[in-house]
Amino acid sequence: MKRLTRHAVFAVALVLAGASAFAQQPIVIKFSHVVARDTPKGQAAERFKQLAEERTNGRVKVDVHPNSQLYKDNEEMDALRLGAVQMLAPSMSKFGPLGLPQFELFDLPYIFPNREVLHRVTLGPLGKELFKSLEAKGIVGLGYWDNGFKAMSANRPLHMPADYKGLKMRIKSSKVIDAQMRALGVLPQVMAFSEVYQALQTGVVDGSENSLPNFLTQKFYEVQKYLALTNHGYDGYAVIVNKKFWDGLPEDIRATLDKAMQDATAYENELSLKENAEGVGKIKATGRVQVYEITPEEQAALRKALLPVHKEMESRIGKQWIDAVYKEAAALGVRY
Ligand code: LMR
Repeated sequence: MKRLTRHAVFAVALVLAGASAFAQQPIVIKFSHVVARDTPKGQAAERFKQLAEERTNGRVKVDVHPNSQLYKDNEEMDALRLGAVQMLAPSMSKFGPLGLPQFELFDLPYIFPNREVLHRVTLGPLGKELFKSLEAKGIVGLGYWDNGFKAMSANRPLHMPADYKGLKMRIKSSKVIDAQMRALGVLPQVMAFSEVYQALQTGVVDGSENSLPNFLTQKFYEVQKYLALTNHGYDGYAVIVNKKFWDGLPEDIRATLDKAMQDATAYENELSLKENAEGVGKIKATGRVQVYEITPEEQAALRKALLPVHKEMESRIGKQWIDAVYKEAAALGVRY
């Protein structure tokens, strides 16, 4: 009898030890992205990791994989939906192939005259509505992260629309950016971010558009001679998570992660402003590329050439989304 009891106690102890080892297994979030660690997105992903791990006392572990280490941007969407990774922050120009062309709204040239209008959209009801449209695809949107207003680069100076004619330029997988480039007589070529440097270096493409932090951290200045600060369009991210994973989290964990994401989002949006402002000087300091503002006349000519893209893309994006942005802009006194 004594022997039996001893066995029973041992067995119970084993079960308890097993259970507590299981309870201590952290929930792992694989967060994959395609840019460098020292970009606004890269740093905000690290901030989210730090906040999430601290505030859940280690119950959640966030593994950040930058620089397309795990997946290129054409693969990472599939990885998210299959549950191979749990979190991403792709550019909104990359949602079209998922069957969500309304996100290409953000790619319309000159749609956001400034950050105020942009944030009325991303932080307001329209942003929420766009996120709702992700759910049918098994995705939940957690936050909008700014990348910045874009610049155009090539190996010849770009001033007037005619200067773009005949260039081959790399674009993201957005039909709106495709239309924008075609409006300038450019031959657009869709390409993953991780392939751009080499394509510029070998002349597969002549130029590209991007934010200043990306231009800087990818060292595109080594393979491009001119960078025109056109501010012709916006690039930003949606931080997204696999819906099944997210809905399956314990409620307290989900709430803590949600708050950590809100804080990481506020951090990212301030950081991107700073890094875009400092980016000009840092790119100039490399001495490798000519960086210049375009004149108001050149800006007006570019705008005139590109604004018709709004109408042209109405049926793809959905007129109601475009009108909703116009309304937000009008509330701040902006007319197109
Ligand atoms: C690009 O593909 O140019 C960018 O969207 C990369 C990024 O995530 O900023």
